[in-house]
Amino acid sequence: MQNVQLIDHPLVKHSLTILRDKNTDTETFRRHTAIVSQIIIMEASRSCKLTKKQIETPISETTGYEIYRSMVFVPVLRAGISMLVHSRDFLPWTPVGFIGLERDEETAIAREYYQKFPENIEKKLVLVLDPMLATGGSVSDTIARLKEKGAKRIALACIVAAPEGIKRINDAHPDVHIYTTAIDDHLNEKKYIVPGLGDFGDRYFGT
Ligand code: PRP
Ligand code: URA
Repeated sequence: MQNVQLIDHPLVKHSLTILRDKNTDTETFRRHTAIVSQIIIMEASRSCKLTKKQIETPISETTGYEIYRSMVFVPVLRAGISMLVHSRDFLPWTPVGFIGLERDEETAIAREYYQKFPENIEKKLVLVLDPMLATGGSVSDTIARLKEKGAKRIALACIVAAPEGIKRINDAHPDVHIYTTAIDDHLNEKKYIVPGLGDFGDRYFGT
């Protein structure tokens, strides 16, 4: 395994336990998705560049910093929307691209149904948002599409990753850094993550 950063902050471990619990209701699931997503975004934005800015406090002049607006979010529909809505507060000016992918229930192979990316992604750090990295098919396809459009710096933010998915991204896209709050054990015969948390989209959207 390479290029993987495990974010195991105590707040994350607490929230993740609530997300994993099958008895957690939709409202609570959303609340803890917010906490986990915001912590991941904080970590993933650590590599953002800063520009210096001269300002005046009520007391004196000082040098401050502004984040250089160099990021793009790309949530993978539908579950990636959950991470987007809870992350926007930190970087509210960030352009957003969308890709719609849905896994076939039988084959676990993702089908693309929508794509719209902002201009100039070749100059930006593109952060793909998808809470679940299972076989890695959805994210690997997303990254391939982004590269076709010229993206050069791509990272992935996810909540739970399976070793199989990490390996797939490492093999197909060794340049992509992965931020995750959990690396689980394996995939079951239906390609669900074990222990995982079940179907993220269904639990978050209450379907
Ligand atoms: C889930 C999840 C990922 C994908 C992960 O989406 O949100 O996008 O599966 O699986 P993979 O790594 O094996 O591709 P799903 O296809 O269930 O669609 P949804 O987001 O609409 O629920
Ligand atoms: N998608 C999910 O939502 N959960 C899994 O365990 C695998 C794919």
